[in-house]
Amino acid sequence: MDIILILAILRYVHIFAGIIWLGDKISLLYIVYPLLVKGSADEGRRLSISVPAMINRVGAIAGATLILVGILLGTFFGRIQSWERLIEPYGLAWMVALLLTIALAVVSETRRKMIGELWDEEGQVNTRAVSRLKIIRSWESLGFVLIISCMVFMHFN
Ligand code: HEM
Repeated sequence: MDIILILAILRYVHIFAGIIWLGDKISLLYIVYPLLVKGSADEGRRLSISVPAMINRVGAIAGATLILVGILLGTFFGRIQSWERLIEPYGLAWMVALLLTIALAVVSETRRKMIGELWDEEGQVNTRAVSRLKIIRSWESLGFVLIISCMVFMHFN
């Protein structure tokens, strides 16, 4: 197969997986969680387990595809063909994107534990858990911005 065609397919798959991975997390953090906290505790407790679990499953597949194709685009089909290339600006941006994506994938898996119970025994919203959620969400959002910045930087570098 023509190398240009392979590259086009890989880029397509990478961008598609990136959209799903990012959309998945943004919808969970900025739409699903805020809606859950507004609803009743009983339904919220149930949905706060099942909805993130479902979203994370899709996110894990998209994330793994994103990372794998990102590695191929940067190394085998890209400019990082030796270890020295890793410490050039392009290689550093690639490494930052890779490490941040892995870190954010780990955060996704442990987010529920880090936030804690969103409701207390009386069914009242636990304000401390909600503020923990907001702090985690801010850090994750910063990570998304940095990853996209790395992609833009790599394009123009
Ligand atoms: C949220 C996660 C990500 C999104 C949304 C994303 C998106 C994109 C987009 C839109 C491009 C096309 C840029 C262009 O050519 O104009 C791209 C290229 C690329 N991405 Fe990502 N990406 C993500 C994560 C990653 C990760 C984790 C890696 C590394 C493992 C990576 C490696 C690359 C490489 C090497 C290219 C080709 C850059 C070039 O030489 O022009 N990406 N990405």
